[in-house]
Amino acid sequence: MPPPLLVHFIAGTAGPWRIDRIDAVTGESLALADRLAIEEGAAAPVSGSTWILRGTTSNTRYTQRAEVDALSAVQQGLGRPLATRAALIPIRKTEAWWALAQDERRAIFEEQSRHIAIGLQYLPGVARRLHHARELGGPFDFLTWFEYAPGDAPAFEDMVSRLRDTPEWRYVDREVDIRLERW
Ligand code: HEM
Repeated sequence: MPPPLLVHFIAGTAGPWRIDRIDAVTGESLALADRLAIEEGAAAPVSGSTWILRGTTSNTRYTQRAEVDALSAVQQGLGRPLATRAALIPIRKTEAWWALAQDERRAIFEEQSRHIAIGLQYLPGVARRLHHARELGGPFDFLTWFEYAPGDAPAFEDMVSRLRDTPEWRYVDREVDIRLERW
């Protein structure tokens, strides 16, 4: 497990990703901007940006050994040249979720919702990185980032809608879906 990496998602006029659309799925949206830059590690420049979200990679919370092994066997890294589409989906969960115990959250996340089992069906086409933001005091608890090739876009839509239908998503009280493209 690599050490935590601080990541800034900077929406504005610069960056390799063109923002195609920003949809409010649940709760308040984010302001529209043209481009997205992603800064890893270094402090983010603040001038000229429309908004900045920051999160950090971390150790896993819920994934069991067999699932870690299944994911490791197929998952791809970020930055594949063919993966010219991306989604940034910031998510906040309810106080009721955070009041649960670890075993209760795991039961909802996997035994009831099959989050990992569903997600695994869409690998290796979709590459992902999860960033935690709750501890950093931002407006979201998680910043989820996905990269895929244009041909995998329909499968990605299918996966997102399956996940949003699960019991886990009853605990989501803010979700914004940002879609991006690069060349
Ligand atoms: C967490 C896998 C797609 C949102 C996780 C975790 C795994 C995982 C293994 C648990 C990490 C841990 O143990 O702490 C996958 C796979 C996907 C996928 C393989 C397929 C590409 C998605 C999508 C979304 C999403 C499309 C958003 C729409 C989240 C969130 C968490 C999470 C918010 C954190 C949950 C929490 O800690 O409460 N995912 N996921 N995932 N995933 Fe996914």
